[in-house]
Amino acid sequence: MQLIMHASLKLCLFFLSVLILVISVLCKAAAMQVITEELQPRTDLLRPEQIHISFGKKANDIVIVWATKANDISIVEYHTENKQKTTQERGETIRLLKDNEDGAQYLHRVEIRDLNPGIKYFYNVRGENDDTLSDQYSFTMPAVQAGITQTFMVYGDMGTLTKNVKFLVQETLNEKYQAVFHIGDIAYDLNRARGQIGDKFLNLIQNMAARTPYMTCPGDHERFSNFVHYRYRFSMPTLPWPMPEDRLWYSLDIGPIHFVIYNTEVFFSSDDFESQLKWLQNDLAAANARRSALPWIIAMGHRPMYCSVSDLKEDCTRERSLVRKHLEDLFYTQGVDLIISGHQHYYERTWPTYKSHALSYNYKEPAGPVHITLGSLGVTYLQEYSTKARGHWSAFIVDDGNKELFGRLKIYNATHLYWEVLDSSDNRLVDKIWIIQSFHRPFNLTRVFIPNPLGHNGEQWIQETDNDGSFDLDWFFGGSHYGDDYETRITVLLFVFIFLIIFLVFRKKILNVVRLCCFKEEPCKKLNLPQVNGKV
Ligand SMILES: *[C@@H]1O[C@H](CO)[C@@H](O)[C@H](O)[C@H]1NC(C)=O
Ligand SMILES: *[C@@H]1O[C@H](CO)[C@@H](O)[C@H](O)[C@H]1NC(C)=O
Repeated sequence: MQLIMHASLKLCLFFLSVLILVISVLCKAAAMQVITEELQPRTDLLRPEQIHISFGKKANDIVIVWATKANDISIVEYHTENKQKTTQERGETIRLLKDNEDGAQYLHRVEIRDLNPGIKYFYNVRGENDDTLSDQYSFTMPAVQAGITQTFMVYGDMGTLTKNVKFLVQETLNEKYQAVFHIGDIAYDLNRARGQIGDKFLNLIQNMAARTPYMTCPGDHERFSNFVHYRYRFSMPTLPWPMPEDRLWYSLDIGPIHFVIYNTEVFFSSDDFESQLKWLQNDLAAANARRSALPWIIAMGHRPMYCSVSDLKEDCTRERSLVRKHLEDLFYTQGVDLIISGHQHYYERTWPTYKSHALSYNYKEPAGPVHITLGSLGVTYLQEYSTKARGHWSAFIVDDGNKELFGRLKIYNATHLYWEVLDSSDNRLVDKIWIIQSFHRPFNLTRVFIPNPLGHNGEQWIQETDNDGSFDLDWFFGGSHYGDDYETRITVLLFVFIFLIIFLVFRKKILNVVRLCCFKEEPCKKLNLPQVNGKV
């Protein structure tokens, strides 16, 4: 019995020690777990995010920019479709601390030069360690040979609250866009929430911007702290990185198009704005010297020269608009075909316009630049209303707070440009025009002046009469709105003159007829008119 007790005690002790062993092993494992969990966020901190690409110095260079939360080196690995060899390119890393306490502070930039037009490339970005490798993305370099249609997505004023960002991302995956142009007011604002809004926005558009060059220009919402977030988070052609705050403009040739991107904010600060004007002058003169190879010149800057919004504080509503004052003559004398802006949260298209006058009421062989304002992706931030007192240069407006619109620009060849605007909620067509220009030139060069007897007031009057069926003579003789529209004025005077002559020549007959009608029998006798009812 005692022996048995002894044995069972031994057994008990044995089990107890096994139990202790198991517990200690488990505890150790748990401790290890804690250590590995401490390591886990490290890879998270090094995970590349906000990947976006843009053109480098030329349209066959690509710059890839991304962000991480911890410091790392910057590497891009890329290859073509046939995957024959993977090339590695290294770049630079900088840290953005200003207004970026909670953001991913480490920004990476790698440039890949001299890629082949029309070829599809696949790439990943990464840091030092293999486990920082990003998903794979691809982009196709724009083809340059004649006969290729160049397609671009264009809009201004988009942020994280814009409802249809996901649609736009999907749209760029479906349709082949050479580039996306976001004409200022990016993210509202890149530095908000200590940098988190900028990160959120760039992650929202990553699927689009990692595959299609995302070309930007600065808007008023990028101005804080000398554009610092804009200058660090993006890298635009021909500019060093971070982009210099006194040189936020660039130009780029894609196919038959010379794009000129400028910074309208310089006109609204005390900064020196002459250097941009000088640069524009030189750049556009050089572009005109190559006009046969680059027929189309398209300029984009955040604030428009013309607009019909009801908010009279806006520069573009003013007689002395600063943007217009500095740029209109320059763009006219350098033959800029199309000017696209954002800033106002609606859509407006003008006729070919110069000095607040429509030069024609169609887009065939325009004699001046066409202006387009497309900032309606920003309506969630502020809805813009159009004014009733629109200038004659205004051709079309959409100021619907429920519509978030984007533009699709297609250049078919040297003579044909197609512009359409679509609703990003249902992809419905909202507007379209063809601009047909067979003689691209500085517009002041050969002004073949064919007077239009109707003038633009007359044209507009006919158009309005056509539209609503009313015969608005009141408007026609209203006087003051004619301005220097001498064509319509002369036509009106001519008609008055002709009526006067007719009256003078036939005054007797006319007076007799009037008398006959008004005073009945007496004058009829004098007239010797045929007898009525046998009476004399
Ligand atoms: C340019 O493209 C348009 C639209 O596709 C076409 O109608 C026109 O014939 C083309 N012109 C030339 C010179 O190829
Ligand atoms: C057109 O404008 C430019 C720039 O102001 C000027 O140099 C040129 O002489 C003008 N050409 C004509 C024909 O007026």
